[in-house]
Amino acid sequence: MSQRILVTGGTGYIGSNTAVELLSAGHEVEILDNLYNSKIEVLDEIEQITGKKPKFHQVDLLDEAGVTRVFKEGNFDAVIHFAGYKAVGESVDKPLEYYENNVTGTLHLLKAMRETGVKKIIFSSSATVYGVQESPEYVETMQTGGHLSNPYGRTKYFIEEILKDYSVADPEFQVCLLRYFNPVGAHPAGLLGDDPNGIPNNLMPFIMRVANGHLPELKIFGDDYPTEDGTCRRDYIHVVDLAKGHMAALDHLKPGVSIYNLGSGKPTSVKEIVTAFERARGEELPKSIAPRRSGDLPEFWANPAKAKAELNWQTELDIDDVMRDTLAYIAKHA
Ligand code: WQD
Repeated sequence: MSQRILVTGGTGYIGSNTAVELLSAGHEVEILDNLYNSKIEVLDEIEQITGKKPKFHQVDLLDEAGVTRVFKEGNFDAVIHFAGYKAVGESVDKPLEYYENNVTGTLHLLKAMRETGVKKIIFSSSATVYGVQESPEYVETMQTGGHLSNPYGRTKYFIEEILKDYSVADPEFQVCLLRYFNPVGAHPAGLLGDDPNGIPNNLMPFIMRVANGHLPELKIFGDDYPTEDGTCRRDYIHVVDLAKGHMAALDHLKPGVSIYNLGSGKPTSVKEIVTAFERARGEELPKSIAPRRSGDLPEFWANPAKAKAELNWQTELDIDDVMRDTLAYIAKHA
C-alpha cells in the first residue's frame, strides 16, 4: 500500500538510493535536505532512474519553523531520517556543531512529527554505537554507548536513546533503528554514488578520488593490525542492499522500538577491497602504507541474523558488484 514518506537527507548517498527504492515500490516521496553534504543534481539522477522527481524542500533541520511547515503541508505517513553530519574526525574538532546539528535537528524533526500526528520513523543509525565490544561480531542485544570514540558516534547513540524514550511517552509511536556497517558502491545505473563534498573520510570515496586522478595515491592506514593481512576488516554493504533494508523495515514497522543490524555478516580487509577494485578496473591503484588512523578498530562486522529472521532481508550483492557499480559511477562522474 502506497505511503507518503519524508526522507530527510534524501539527496545524500544512502538517502537518495533509498528514495529510488521507495519510488520504485510505488510510495510517494518528498525530500528534505540542506545540501550541506550533497548536490541538488541528485534529484535529476533519481528521476533518471525512476522517472519521478521527488518534491524537494531545501530546509535545515535547525530551522524549526521551516521543518514544521514542511510537515503541515506534507501529510506524511512516515519519516526516514538520514540527515546529519557524519565525519568522525570532523566531529572530534567540532563537537558543538555535531550535537547541535544531529541531536537538536532530530528534536525539531520529532516535535514537527508530534505536532502533525506522524507516528512512524526509521532512523539511520550506525554500528559506531556499539563502541568497543568483547566480540567483533555485533548483535543487537549488545550494550551500546560504551567507549564511543567520537562525538559523531555519540550523536547516533543519543538519538537512539531519545527515540527509545519518546516511544515510551507515546505508545503509538513506531521506531526502527537501522545500524549500518560500511555502505559502499553506487546504483547500477552508475548514479547516486558516495561522492561527499570536500575531502572524503571513508575508504571507497578515497579510492574513487585516486582512480579519477583527483588524489595522487591511496594511503592505507596501517598494515600492522592483528588481522590476516595486517589491515583492518569491515563489513562492507552495497548501498542498494542497504536501501532495500529500509524498504523491509518500512514494511515491518510496529509500535515500540525495533533494532536491526544491516550488514553482510562477512568482514573484508582494506587490502582485499583495494585488490577487488584493481581487479575490476584492470589496473593497479597508486597506494602506500601510512600510519594507523587513531580510533580505528582492527575489525568488526554484523551478525545480520535478526534482520533475516524478522525482516526477511539479507544482502544479495557482493564486493565485485560494489566495484562494478563504483566503476560505472566513476565513468559517469569523472
Ligand atoms: C574503513 C577502513 C580505515 C580511508 C566509518 C564510520 C562509521 C560509518 C562508516 C557512518 C579503515 C581504512 C580509510 C583511507 C584507509 N559511517 N582507510 N585509507 O572507519 O570503518 O567507519 O564509516 O555511519 O560510523 O566510523 O570506515 O571507510 O573510514 O574506513 O586505509 O583513505 O579503511 O583505516 O580501516 P570506518 P572508513
